[in-house]
Amino acid sequence: MSLLSRIKSKTDQSMTEQVQAVIGPPSKDNHEQKEQVATSKQETVTKSVVPKKRNDKQLAFKELLHKNILQEIKEGQDVEELIPDIDQMAMELMKEDDSFRSVDRKKVVEEMINDLTGFGPINPLLLDEDVTEVMVNGPTHVYCERKGKIILTDVTFRDNEHVMAVIEKIVAPIGRRIDESSPMVDARLPDGSRVNAIIPPLALNGPTITIRKFAKDPFGISDLVSFGTLTDKMAIFLDACVKARLNIFVSGGTGSGKTTTLNVLSNFIPNDERIVTIEDAAELQLGQEHVVSLESRPPNIEGKGAITIRDLVRNSLRMRPDRVVIGEVRGAEALDMLQAMNTGHDGSLATGHSNSPRDMIARLETMVLLAGVELPVKAIREQISGAIDLIIQQSRLKDGSRKIVSITEVQGLEGDVIVLQDIFTFEQNGLDEQGKVIGSLVPTGVRPKFYEQLQSSGIELPGNVFFRDGEWGQ
Ligand SMILES: Nc1ncnc2c1ncn2[C@@H]1O[C@H](COP(=O)(O)OP(=O)(O)O)[C@@H](O)[C@H]1O
Ligand SMILES: [Mg+2]
Repeated sequence: MSLLSRIKSKTDQSMTEQVQAVIGPPSKDNHEQKEQVATSKQETVTKSVVPKKRNDKQLAFKELLHKNILQEIKEGQDVEELIPDIDQMAMELMKEDDSFRSVDRKKVVEEMINDLTGFGPINPLLLDEDVTEVMVNGPTHVYCERKGKIILTDVTFRDNEHVMAVIEKIVAPIGRRIDESSPMVDARLPDGSRVNAIIPPLALNGPTITIRKFAKDPFGISDLVSFGTLTDKMAIFLDACVKARLNIFVSGGTGSGKTTTLNVLSNFIPNDERIVTIEDAAELQLGQEHVVSLESRPPNIEGKGAITIRDLVRNSLRMRPDRVVIGEVRGAEALDMLQAMNTGHDGSLATGHSNSPRDMIARLETMVLLAGVELPVKAIREQISGAIDLIIQQSRLKDGSRKIVSITEVQGLEGDVIVLQDIFTFEQNGLDEQGKVIGSLVPTGVRPKFYEQLQSSGIELPGNVFFRDGEWGQ
């Protein structure tokens, strides 16, 4: 049977089977459930996120309660031991002073406990599973990201010192500090969430905290398909590309979902391969057993002791990896990565910050130059086009949804130019009533040059993956 007729003979039936093999059985019900839960949670929270004026009585009462706790605490006693008594204390204070009658005691006690044990006023946001990001711009402007949308919350801190106390609480356990001489700090919460804090005089709004919450249950391929980030055809295609050891680059802006997609792709790697992951702050969560996770280290206060992504990439090549997964390539490590990809370390995966596949290539060229090796542009382009097979471009659309907007093959070098060919592109057909983007990812009709590589790795892919539905006579 010729290749062409073999492809043609693949029916939609086998497509469905392959979809199930890659993304599991249709999880629509499940997803609907998730959506329902999310919506009902959102309703309850939306009520409380409308900013309202703080009740001064409430603040005064909280201060009084705080003073009381400080008086009660005995020397050497852990403040957490007092928690069971706080409500009782509050009740007594209310009895003593009638003017506090209108105060919502439960709320004040809850806030107090959050201050003492957790991370203060932002604790409820950290515990809320629908919130993916928390942003504190000084004491009175606390935002969060919920379902891709950024919302101003009614959470407030007392003052700058209160925000500073929370930052200190976050950074102290990991041996970092924040003060005027080191006014910026990166840290991680015990659950893995990433934290950045920057304080005055650098931050003009007051102490500023940005928390990217760690997904407890990271998105899988079926989640991304149900969110409309990619289609099931593309999921099959990408699974095949990872298994066939293509070198894949996920490109996109900040927060476009690159790391999430990288995580999903990495989970396509067969379980018997040794995977080394390299990141600035460990975010990837792989399901395989044989994974070595490496994390770079910033310089210490004297500016010494830094271990860069580049150092780790170089080191990883001496660790007998079957696969190297690099969280984000943003500097000189690009050269080492490309060299590794060109010298037998295929099947590598990485992400990079850029707005289009063409832009990603241009940025990689610049990054290679940062490595301080004098290479003519043509040689750099040879390295790039020889190393990278596929660029997945990801984007956060206006409606907050994250989508893969193109999957592009790096075909090679023609003269001085790197030839890029889109395999799938996003076609937007408009907006629905809620302002959500309607559109879908469609194959461009071009079969990638590496199709043979997929086949020679024993991967059977229905040829109609690369064609619009109905375009193949069935
Ligand atoms: N496909 C997606 N659909 C919806 N939300 C997503 C998707 N991918 C990522 N997210 C959410 O968007 C935020 C940013 O994702 P991340 O992968 O860290 O982006 P990046 O690495 O590009 O900065 C996270 O909160 C994540 O849960
Ligand atoms: Mg990322």
